[in-house]
Amino acid sequence: PAIESKRLRIGMQKSGRLSIESQALLSSCGLKINLREQRLIAHVENMPIDILRVRDDDIPGLVMDGVCDLGIIGENVLEEVSLQRQIDNESADYEVLARLDFGGCRLSIAVPQEEQYQGVSSLEGKTIATTYPRLLTRYLKQQGVNARVVMLTGSVEVAPRAGLADAICDLVSTGATLEANGLKEAEVIYRSKAVLIQRKGLADAQHQKLIAKLMPRIQGVMQANE
Ligand code: PRP
Ligand code: ZN
Ligand code: MG
Repeated sequence: PAIESKRLRIGMQKSGRLSIESQALLSSCGLKINLREQRLIAHVENMPIDILRVRDDDIPGLVMDGVCDLGIIGENVLEEVSLQRQIDNESADYEVLARLDFGGCRLSIAVPQEEQYQGVSSLEGKTIATTYPRLLTRYLKQQGVNARVVMLTGSVEVAPRAGLADAICDLVSTGATLEANGLKEAEVIYRSKAVLIQRKGLADAQHQKLIAKLMPRIQGVMQANE
């Protein structure tokens, strides 16, 4: 199959909250990455490794399907994809190799700034747009709130202005995206950081050796950051 490759594949966010620090971590581990802007695959020059630069939300699935051997991803996205794949009867296996010291963010419900928000009951009967329907649905259930969940894979923050939803549920890091779109954080439903994950049942001995070489370096970089 086309995806079979001798080179170790690491899935990394192309652009967004995790990309700069993911790149920095790998560089600090000695990987010389040739990142030509628009390329999907970046070759590591001094090791048999390829970096797949994709949307963060696609990384867990790529690892679970064996397209990538490793991935750097936020715990919240990982949890969402796992829940969805279990429902869809797709493989949802992975192993966490390391908890990383960046990518801190929260999954939050946000409403228009001018709205008088008075707690979760304000969401009753509302429509909420999100890329994380499983985590949101679980939260709403726990809170006993009936709201309509609408799935959007991108540009969730414009949904209220576009009249597609009353509220959104999305990742918040600095808060700049909410601010720029006239929204305010109403509820935090999940806090997370980035993790390094591996495909379960990775068989290739060369890949295992390479990972065993990388792990102490990753731990070392994180200790140095403390
Ligand atoms: C998330 C989220 C917002 C942004 C929030 O995007 O969807 O766009 O981060 O960060 P801020 O609070 O610092 O503004 P992500 O990095 O997951 O990229 P994506 O939307 O392309 O998946
Ligand atoms: Zn994302
Ligand atoms: Mg986004």
